[in-house]
Amino acid sequence: MRSPLTTLPKAELHIHIEGSLEPEMMVALAQRNGITLPYASVEEVRAAYQFENLQSFLDLYYAGAQVLQTEQDFYDLTWAYLQKCAAQHVRHTEIFFDPQTHSDRGIPFEVFHSGITQALKDAKTELGVSSALILCFLRHLSAEAAMATLEQALPYRDSIIAVGLDSSELGHPPSKFQAVFDRARAEGFLTVAHAGEEGPPEYVWEAIRLLKVSRIDHGVRCVEDPALVDYLVEHQIPLTVCPLSNIKLCVFDEMAQHNLKQLMELGLCVTVNSDDPAYFGGYMAENFQAVESALGLTPEQLVQLAKNSFKASFLSPAEQQPYLQELSTYI
Ligand code: ADE
Ligand code: ZN
Repeated sequence: MRSPLTTLPKAELHIHIEGSLEPEMMVALAQRNGITLPYASVEEVRAAYQFENLQSFLDLYYAGAQVLQTEQDFYDLTWAYLQKCAAQHVRHTEIFFDPQTHSDRGIPFEVFHSGITQALKDAKTELGVSSALILCFLRHLSAEAAMATLEQALPYRDSIIAVGLDSSELGHPPSKFQAVFDRARAEGFLTVAHAGEEGPPEYVWEAIRLLKVSRIDHGVRCVEDPALVDYLVEHQIPLTVCPLSNIKLCVFDEMAQHNLKQLMELGLCVTVNSDDPAYFGGYMAENFQAVESALGLTPEQLVQLAKNSFKASFLSPAEQQPYLQELSTYI
């Protein structure tokens, strides 16, 4: 029998497409592209997924992404994730992609963009899963490199709804990218940013005030600053929280200590997301399952999380309405 958490209609708002590269596909693409991995088997790849913090994960994540070479590779990666969405009743997904991870090793923008967007189109017609695409800048690289990436993306702007900021947070505050985000907004992009995952509440303030983000990715450290919590509640700025990710990257020691329930009870607009599901042990349903059992969320709170996922999405109010209506019949 399928868990009700699998069948709950929901949206995903924080998924790095490169982080959906399962070890099986990593090994298969390495073979297809004649790349030698430093692992002898799928089991060895999986066994390497023991992280101490964000950086120790990112080192493996960027190494794994090297197997992605052709348009077909990006299509296969994205399609596999979208099939998972359909199986878990994720009706809408807003997907991050990291152009610099690919263009800096010589893959043209056109190659990864076409592979990803063709899969998104096919998912709409064949799986009934809608989507939007968010271009992330790698914050450990320079603001000039981010600006050049934004300029490369301009010919594709109709297919990209927003820009975001990911990679190593500490030491790379949002303020470093203020001019890039100013330009992105002037070009018509919405904005989001990872902040308050490992970084301090001040980075969340900067993302709001300087980058003018529509949502904060992670944001769990906001609780350290009561004025920030008040602001997030008052303005209902959503947090895209990633429970399994936070445990794998040691943001919290164990799920029972995760502050997701506390954030909800403080009145924040919290959503549940998978971040890098192939690396962190689960997609959307597994993340819902993990918080339900460890934090004892009520059925009302689970439905609230699903409602928040649509309300915090970039779908128009008219597009959100049928999902919210469907969810209102759940309790
Ligand atoms: N890139 C992929 N996953 C990430 C995360 N959790 N935080 C920052 N950058 C990332
Ligand atoms: Zn992330």
